[in-house]
Amino acid sequence: MRAERFTGRVAVVTGGASPIGFGIAARLADEGATLVLGDVDTDRLRTAAVELASDRQGRIRTVSGDLSERADAERLIATAAETAGRLDILVNCAGGGVILPTPEHTEDTVRATIDRNLWTTLHCTLAVLPIMSGAGYGRIVNIGAESVRNGLYRHAVYNAAKGGVHAFATGLAREYAERGITVNTVAPAWISTPEADARIVAAPEAERRDMAEFFAQIRSTIPMGRPGTVAEVAAAVAFVAAEEASYVTGQTISVNGGSSML
Ligand SMILES: NC(=O)c1ccc[n+]([C@@H]2O[C@H](COP(=O)([O-])OP(=O)(O)OC[C@H]3O[C@@H](n4cnc5c(N)ncnc54)[C@H](O)[C@@H]3O)[C@@H](O)[C@H]2O)c1
Repeated sequence: MRAERFTGRVAVVTGGASPIGFGIAARLADEGATLVLGDVDTDRLRTAAVELASDRQGRIRTVSGDLSERADAERLIATAAETAGRLDILVNCAGGGVILPTPEHTEDTVRATIDRNLWTTLHCTLAVLPIMSGAGYGRIVNIGAESVRNGLYRHAVYNAAKGGVHAFATGLAREYAERGITVNTVAPAWISTPEADARIVAAPEAERRDMAEFFAQIRSTIPMGRPGTVAEVAAAVAFVAAEEASYVTGQTISVNGGSSML
């Protein structure tokens, strides 16, 4: 039986329709949090909320929208604060890579990568700061990426976006250090999700061979020799999102199987 570290707390999880976002939401809800999930994928968001709500009466709400747009991000944060009456935790999990060798990127794929990962984080964070400042309490947790540190194959453009997410957290942590608000980044390495596995199985033969080679490269960067799990990421997020992590700010917590060791 887990301690209920989040009873009475309200958390927004962006990217709530994604496997990792869903896992984080479930972990926070299991420990008592009221949740507001945001995502651009309305159908998957609804499915996630139904699944989460089945035994957590009235504690899951959703707001769909493109969080790289300021108005949509502000609507998510305002809805959460108004309907739940407070907002204690923001997990910036919306993102996802367009993972390609750099010369294969176009201006559109670069912009999409930065929109999904960096602008969603910037807009949601800027919208939540006045609320957390007013309350004198807040936990902001960004989902970054280990590839920023280990320079993973095909990840340069993704790293440009996630690197901005990591850097934003450090600067903000300093600015808000005396206001009861902590800002940290949880940086997963390769996380196995059923959705990603299914995409590989469904891919054409040549693509599957390419992916197999790519994943072998990734595996070679991880001393534990295996992908991480969503639950392992969610556990790290729950730690920095909790009140007891009050002296941890500006940190990047790697969930990486030893892929980098600093
Ligand atoms: N899976 C991994 O190995 C891994 C590793 C490191 C970091 N991450 C990060 O973890 C997070 C979750 O990834 P995942 O693998 O579970 O699935 P994913 O990459 O599909 O998740 C991204 C989610 O963000 C949402 N999203 C994207 N752009 C958005 C926008 N503009 N507005 C609102 N929502 C938007 C998507 O709809 C999706 O639900 C992402 O930030 C991803 O970059 C994943």
